[in-house]
Amino acid sequence: MKEKPKYCESPDTFICDDYEVKEEPQLCEIDKSKTYKGLVGIYVDDSTITYIDGINGKLYYRGYSLEDLVHQSSFEEVAYLLIYGKLPTNSQLSNFKDELIKERNIPYDVLSILKSYPRNTTRIELLRTSISALSLYDPDDYIFTEEANIRKGIRIIAKIPTVLALSHRIQSNLPVIEPSEELSHSCNYYYMMTGKIPHDEFKKAFDKILICHADHSINSSTFSCRVTVSTLSDIYSGITSAIGTLRGPLHGGANERVIKYMLEEIKKKENIIPWVKEKLDKKEKIMGFGHRVYKTWDPRAKILREISRKLWSNIERVEKIPDLTHKKEHEEIDNIFEMTELLADYMIETKEIYPNVDLYSAGALHALGIPNAAFTPLFAASRSAGWVAHAIEQLSDNKLIRPRLRYVGELDKNYINIEER
Ligand code: COA
Repeated sequence: MKEKPKYCESPDTFICDDYEVKEEPQLCEIDKSKTYKGLVGIYVDDSTITYIDGINGKLYYRGYSLEDLVHQSSFEEVAYLLIYGKLPTNSQLSNFKDELIKERNIPYDVLSILKSYPRNTTRIELLRTSISALSLYDPDDYIFTEEANIRKGIRIIAKIPTVLALSHRIQSNLPVIEPSEELSHSCNYYYMMTGKIPHDEFKKAFDKILICHADHSINSSTFSCRVTVSTLSDIYSGITSAIGTLRGPLHGGANERVIKYMLEEIKKKENIIPWVKEKLDKKEKIMGFGHRVYKTWDPRAKILREISRKLWSNIERVEKIPDLTHKKEHEEIDNIFEMTELLADYMIETKEIYPNVDLYSAGALHALGIPNAAFTPLFAASRSAGWVAHAIEQLSDNKLIRPRLRYVGELDKNYINIEER
């Protein structure tokens, strides 16, 4: 039996030791006569990685509040925390950073494949396919111990920004840039995209954005990852499944849809209300709103809202990193943060549906100049830390994940020969 998770390191952290969990609004007693479509309200395992309080809008990684981690740590420190379950000492963090730096390069063959993909392929497809290809070059490919899985996981986390930056350069017909051996995880990504060291505002905001996306318990992509490794397949397959799942607009693909509607459909503050009314009348979902677990403000959205507010308060004109997908210069667009606020007010007041992480990450990433095509892949870059942690936790006490479907079709039908149908 696994030990139940306890979070009682400081007086203001809660204790979660009797599973009288009231935090997830839709959580239910199992009733065998019912079908739990979408697995709504079902616990599929125990975990000590991430806790979501969906009523009070709180999020904890390994018992530490997201707010504390965003304000006091770095993405590398959070990735270490998620994978190893505890905060690193100075020397552990420094070794971990060195390992990530050492693993940034990708094999020449994978670079060649990246160059050979069709030029109009989405970046998330490039990433999914490249991660799958990278497994073939991993020296630990056929070693399945926890230590080997951690080594493979670190390689995946280290290489994702490289694949993303190379995809950007290749698709923009620009020469590729080698990874830096000095810069932090997030600064190296910017450097490989642009050949420049990022400005201070970028450094401060980007790491926080990565931390906010690093894990979110058993969301759809993490579930895919855990299902895949639960068959005792490998961690690369788990993360390839996860990337494929993240891509959908109901999950990580939402941030790209948010920026697209801001830039191409809404454009001006006065268009917000008519635009949203029309969508809702047509029963369309508004991307960047709603959540399976939060029925209040998503705490990540709150943090990103502040980042976005700051970034948009002193922007004269957005300087996008040049990208072919952005060749078309957008006409005058109103301040995206202000438009987001109007949209959020309307959704909360009329529908009681709150903004989620994607609403504000879209505006913040746009303000930082990140090409829109990179939004969802960047979510993957950050979430890879969580996926690795979940793959390792799953394998530490594995049970094949294999739910049931309630069969509702007919039985005992007469087989009719094909000529007689
Ligand atoms: N816009 C409009 N209505 C929404 C909505 C949104 N973004 N999110 C939820 N709703 C409404 C639904 O239409 C439904 O209304 P109904 O009961 O009258 O039919 C109700 O709220 C429940 O929504 P449902 O889709 O059943 O909840 P869910 O838990 O299955 O879905 C999401 C959660 C995230 C898939 C959903 O909120 C969504 O599609 N959001 C937009 C995509 C997005 O931003 N994804 C990123 C998530 S971090």
